[in-house]
Amino acid sequence: MNAAATAEDTAAPVLQADAVNAYYGQSHILRNVSIRVMPHEAVSLMGRNGMGKTTLLRTLMGLLRPRSGAIRLRGADMTGERASAVARAGIAFVPEDRGVFPNLTVEENLTFAARPGRDARADWTLERVYGLFPRLAERRSNWGNQLSGGEQKMLAIGRALMTNPEIILLDEATEGLAPKVRDEIWATLRLITEAGIASIVVDKNLDDLFELAHRHMVIVKGEIVFDGPTAALRADEALIHRHLGV
Ligand SMILES: Nc1ncnc2c1ncn2[C@@H]1O[C@H](COP(=O)(O)OP(=O)(O)OP(=O)(O)O)[C@@H](O)[C@H]1O
Ligand SMILES: [Mg+2]
Repeated sequence: MNAAATAEDTAAPVLQADAVNAYYGQSHILRNVSIRVMPHEAVSLMGRNGMGKTTLLRTLMGLLRPRSGAIRLRGADMTGERASAVARAGIAFVPEDRGVFPNLTVEENLTFAARPGRDARADWTLERVYGLFPRLAERRSNWGNQLSGGEQKMLAIGRALMTNPEIILLDEATEGLAPKVRDEIWATLRLITEAGIASIVVDKNLDDLFELAHRHMVIVKGEIVFDGPTAALRADEALIHRHLGV
């Protein structure tokens, strides 16, 4: 845990959404979504295709402006702020399409993203990211577009860490990767959680989510229909079958 953390830090949510409604044009996508993520907590966000997972992450990140409701980061109102301001405030987003710069090297991608976090915290350095992803250290001089899909995901996560964020939003971090590479990414996500960074993790693999996160949210047609601990979700076989398709 960060030495600067206080009792107050751990009692209040790091990220909070209250009754958020968001639209794409006329389509009402997010319906009264309220969520809380506590400091150091990894929470999963699950749901079938098209239910609104990416839309929720984009809305939290300031890439889609909610029509109503509020978003707060450590109590500060972020509603309607641009993504650049949200990023500066401490939310990092790893999008499904990775968001790596193809014409920069691995090292340039990382240093370009570097920024101190809250209270000038600079826990995450190039060396620490390379320590977490030795593969990136080996590829440090390669261009972004010369990387495998798994390496691009690693680089996108590395870039997020270089911003010294309070919380990371991960959209399908293991989608389309070979099993061995997936395992590497999950192991890294566990290390990031142990390092005290909160996260919302979207993925389709329940077992890995159960291992990483202690709390889970299930979204159906833009509504959060479940928010609870692993044991409660595991026990609800009907919900798992109906809304998670397993
Ligand atoms: N840019 C867009 N413009 C209009 N509608 C969109 C847009 N992006 C997504 N949608 C619609 O919003 C709804 C939610 O989509 P979203 O991408 O958030 O789902 P998801 O849960 O992330 O799905 P997946 O598991 O396939 O990634 C879907 O009905 C989708 O068709
Ligand atoms: Mg999605």
